[in-house]
Amino acid sequence: MRVCLFDAYGTLFDVTSPTRAVGLPAETGARLMALWRERQLQYTWLRTLGNAYADFERVTAEALAFALEALGLTDETLAARLLEAYRRLTPFAEAEAALHRLREAGMRLALLSNGTPAMLTALLAGAGWGDLFEAVLSADAVGAYKTSPAVYRLAERHFGAPAAAMTFISSNGWDAQAAAAHGFRVVWCNRAGQPRERLPGEIWKEIRMLDELPGLLEA
Ligand code: LAC
Repeated sequence: MRVCLFDAYGTLFDVTSPTRAVGLPAETGARLMALWRERQLQYTWLRTLGNAYADFERVTAEALAFALEALGLTDETLAARLLEAYRRLTPFAEAEAALHRLREAGMRLALLSNGTPAMLTALLAGAGWGDLFEAVLSADAVGAYKTSPAVYRLAERHFGAPAAAMTFISSNGWDAQAAAAHGFRVVWCNRAGQPRERLPGEIWKEIRMLDELPGLLEA
């Protein structure tokens, strides 16, 4: 079990950080971010179901346009500023030390995410983590989103190993369940203290923050 596959959005990077970057009032910002994220994910599922793939950059922008209109936010520069901030999301505070510990323990790290390669590479560069990850596996390569098995299979193909030999870490409960159903050993980083999704898949371990991860994997 030397390979750790990380989800990006919400797991390593805080998807709520753009509102702080553009200075929206806290309550408006929280509503906007929740609606934006909710629609962004729904659009990934719906586009995959309907065989209508468009890349994550476009889906993210379209979900934002919906959320801004729904909340009556009409400032014309807001969308561009939020999307710019989305390319430079703030990493969660505890993530970096955890990633370093995993590397020191000899783990091989990769991203396995819906983001486009350009989006993911920009996030890693922004965090200064370019050297920590040996692979960026993007759903864009298969033209479908999680929870399509084609996305999870990218890791098996890249590492030439069965899913059961790799650990997958996500804070998104639905992603964690699907990855477990696919066969990965899954750690659910349940940051929000949510109930378990009633979906197929047996999650191996649940943690609250990534600082618990190295101890789990070294044990
Ligand atoms: C990702 C989304 C699901 O990074 O957070 O793939």
